[in-house]
Amino acid sequence: MVGGKGRGSNLLNLIEAGRDGRMRGQVELVVGTKEGVPAVEMAREMGVRTVVLSPKEGGYGGCLRGVLRESAVDLVCLAGYLTLLPGEVLVDFPGRVLNIHPALLPKFGGKGMYLHYVHEAVLAAGESESGCSVHMVSEQYDEGAVVWQERVPVEPGDTVETLGSRVNRAEMVAYPKAVNLVWEKFGG
Ligand code: GRF
Repeated sequence: MVGGKGRGSNLLNLIEAGRDGRMRGQVELVVGTKEGVPAVEMAREMGVRTVVLSPKEGGYGGCLRGVLRESAVDLVCLAGYLTLLPGEVLVDFPGRVLNIHPALLPKFGGKGMYLHYVHEAVLAAGESESGCSVHMVSEQYDEGAVVWQERVPVEPGDTVETLGSRVNRAEMVAYPKAVNLVWEKFGG
């Protein structure tokens, strides 16, 4: 599931990782929150079934649950989806909803901590390392159990852009790895 603000790099990576064998399973369905955004366009170009549902519309949780049920998905992966997931979906997929966050949780998580804001905060805090975390999704932002983390150094002179690129490269390794770990756990 993708939101409207990211570039779609994690979604692209998951689609490719499924197709080239780095990841068990395939991205069968993409649910976006907005038409015309990079992730949604790219998913369609790559031939993945794509549905757009706006969280601002009434009945969003029920519609989303219906779409996920009818597609019989095993695992829900959030990639740049910046809203809290409706409770109905968490009930349907216990322990099977993952998110990726561009920092080493539990540090630098929570509401308002997304995209460049995270890297700004890491640099402002003078951290010597950062990274990314794939974690289980709960009712709170960035609070579920961490499944896998990749660490990267913060280099002298780093900017939000240079640190962000380094973390993004780590995300490309972390998300397929975490999906494989969850798959093993559920015996798929
Ligand atoms: C990533 O940094 C991810 O960690 C966060 O949102 C960003 C989405 O970027 N949840 P992209 O759309 O995958 O390029």
